Amino acid sequence: MRKSVYNIHMDERRLRSALANLPVPEIHYRGEVGSTNDLAQSLLEAGAADGTLVAADAQNAGRGRLGRRWLTAPGSALAFSLALRPAPGELEKLAFFAPLAGMAVCLALAEDYGLPAELKWPNDVLIRRKKVCGVLVEATWQGATPAGVVMGIGVNVAPTSVPPPEALLFPASCVESELGRAVERVDLLAAVVRRVFALRPTLGSAAFVRAWEARLAFKGERVRVDLPGGAVAEGTLLGVSTEGGLRLLSAGAVDNQEIEIAAGDVRLRPVV
Ligand code: BTN
Repeated sequence: MRKSVYNIHMDERRLRSALANLPVPEIHYRGEVGSTNDLAQSLLEAGAADGTLVAADAQNAGRGRLGRRWLTAPGSALAFSLALRPAPGELEKLAFFAPLAGMAVCLALAEDYGLPAELKWPNDVLIRRKKVCGVLVEATWQGATPAGVVMGIGVNVAPTSVPPPEALLFPASCVESELGRAVERVDLLAAVVRRVFALRPTLGSAAFVRAWEARLAFKGERVRVDLPGGAVAEGTLLGVSTEGGLRLLSAGAVDNQEIEIAAGDVRLRPVV
């Protein structure tokens, strides 16, 4: 594969021009940051408007789901967060912001790069069964009302972004390896952000769930889900419920019973 000539650093001017026609009122770019989610959170607390974007070339305290670390080495990946202020109609549908981010990445990779991207429920993005993207959505509350949502997206772009196998719980790859050519990170970032805003009006609708199911990895296959507290559910993956839960045809104590698993502190993997 040709060595990437683009991925030395992120071109901030190009980033601003690629996002110029999108509803992104402010862009905060950093060469290095602890976590773009943390910075987006502080900006929300300071009054940042809906759609404010934080992007970094590298993160030294990036965070993943389930309290894990997420490494972002310089010049290798996408690490960005959108600071969102949910509209009244979105408040009931906060759980769908994470799959919205995953869907946006899937569609950008499929439609603009021709890659067979899929969503591993609830929101990892896979290409050929290897993880290339993770999503961490965090909501903040003022009393009982959600004040803001931070949508954090990390994409492995160049091979140097892929953690060593011993650090992985699930096989991983990167966009450039799956595509066989170099990728300009700013273009991919803009393609994802465009889809976030295009899909957002459909958040949690029947059409949204259908589109999610159409991209669902391991459908019809036997999977295992690690649940909080050490319990495990196993069965055939049927699809996604209207609430965004995983529908499984159980292979547990009571076979052939449809069960629903709510997204949360759960981890899904295929049974091989
Ligand atoms: C996961 O798969 O565990 C989720 C990883 C989410 C990583 C992204 S990178 C941008 C944003 N900032 C963070 O600290 N985490 C998210």
